[in-house]
Amino acid sequence: MFDYQGKNVVVIGGTSGINLQIAKSFAAQGANVAVASRSQDKVDAAVSALNSVNQSGVHLGVSFDVRDVDAVAQGFTKIVEQFKNIDVLVSGAAGNFPATAAKLSENGFKSVVDIDLLGSFHVMKQAHQYLTRPGVIIQISAPQAYIAMPMQSHVSAAKAGVDMLTRSLALEWGAEGIRVNSIVPGPIADTEGFNRLAPSEALQQRVAQSVPLQRNGACQDIANVALFLASPMASYVTGTVIPVDGGWSLGGASMAMAELGRLAQQQ
Ligand code: COA
Ligand code: NAP
Repeated sequence: MFDYQGKNVVVIGGTSGINLQIAKSFAAQGANVAVASRSQDKVDAAVSALNSVNQSGVHLGVSFDVRDVDAVAQGFTKIVEQFKNIDVLVSGAAGNFPATAAKLSENGFKSVVDIDLLGSFHVMKQAHQYLTRPGVIIQISAPQAYIAMPMQSHVSAAKAGVDMLTRSLALEWGAEGIRVNSIVPGPIADTEGFNRLAPSEALQQRVAQSVPLQRNGACQDIANVALFLASPMASYVTGTVIPVDGGWSLGGASMAMAELGRLAQQQ
C-alpha cells in the first residue's frame, strides 16, 4: 500500500504494544527499522519479529532509557552507524499507572513526566541532527493530553506537553522540511496501557460501549495512520494532533474514565 523501500525508520519504545505494531508495519512496507527501549530482552525479541516480517530490510535494536540523555545520544550514534540517516522518527516511549494526585508521590509524578515529556524532547533533539530533509516525526500521545481523567494527572500533564512539543517543533523545523505530528490513540485492545487502566474484560467491554464506533481499537488502527502520516500523501500535514479513537474523544472518554475511576476508588 505504501512504499518505504530503503527508508530508515526509528521507533522509540518500539518493542511492545502499539509502537511494535507501528515498527512491524513500516518493515512490512519495505523499511529498515530500528527500535529502542530499556529492556534488552524486549529489544532482541522485537528485532526478531521485524526480521520475520521483512527479511530483506536491515533491522536493529538498541537499549536505553529515554530519561538518560547521554544514553539516548549513544543509542542514536549506534543507529546511524548502520543507517547513516533517519527518514522517520516515531517517539512513543511512555509510562502510566492509575493513581490519584493525593496519593501519588512527587517521584511518581516526576517519573511519568520524565519518561513521556523530557524523554520525547531528548529523543527528538537527538534525532534532529540525523533526520533527512524532508523528514518526519510522529509522536504517540494520549487522550489524557486534552481530556481530564481521574487518576491520570501525571499522564495528562506529560502528554499535554508532548502535544505542545509537536506543535512547537513543527513550527521551528517546518522550514527545514521536517513535519511533526501527534497521533492520539483511543483505547487499544491487548496493550499494556489499556490493561493498566481497565484491568478486566468486563471493564474493557464497558469502555468499548462508550466508543461511537462501538469497539476498542487495534494496534493496526494506529499503525495505519502512522504509515499515512510518514508518507508523501501527508506532505502538507504538520503540527497536528490526530485522534485515532473511533470517536471516543467526542464525549465517551470522559464518561467511561470517570466510571472506571469511581470503580477503582471503591476497591
Ligand atoms: N501507583 C502509584 N505510584 C506508583 C505506581 C503506582 N501504580 N507505580 C510506580 N509508582 C511510583 C513509585 O512508587 C515511585 O515513586 P516513589 O519513589 O516515591 O516510591 C515512582 O513511581 C517511580 O517508580 P519506579 O518503579 O522506580 O519507576 P521506574 O522508572 O522503574 O518505572 C513506571 C516507571 C513507574 C512508569 C513503570 O510503570 C514503567 O516502567 N512503565 C512502562 C510500561 C507502561 O507504563 N506501559 C503503558 C504505557 S501507556
Ligand atoms: P507498552 O507496550 O508498555 O509500550 C511502551 C514502550 O515504551 C515499551 O516498548 C517500553 O519498553 C518503552 N519504554 C517505557 N519506558 C521507557 C523508558 N523510560 N525508556 C525507553 N523506553 C521505555 O504500551 P502501549 O500501551 O502499547 O503504549 C504505547 C504508546 O501509546 C504510549 O506512548 C502510550 O502513552 C500510548 N497510548 C496507548 C493507549 C492504549 O490504549 N494502550 C492509549 C493512548 C495512548 P521497555 O519496558 O523495554 O522500556
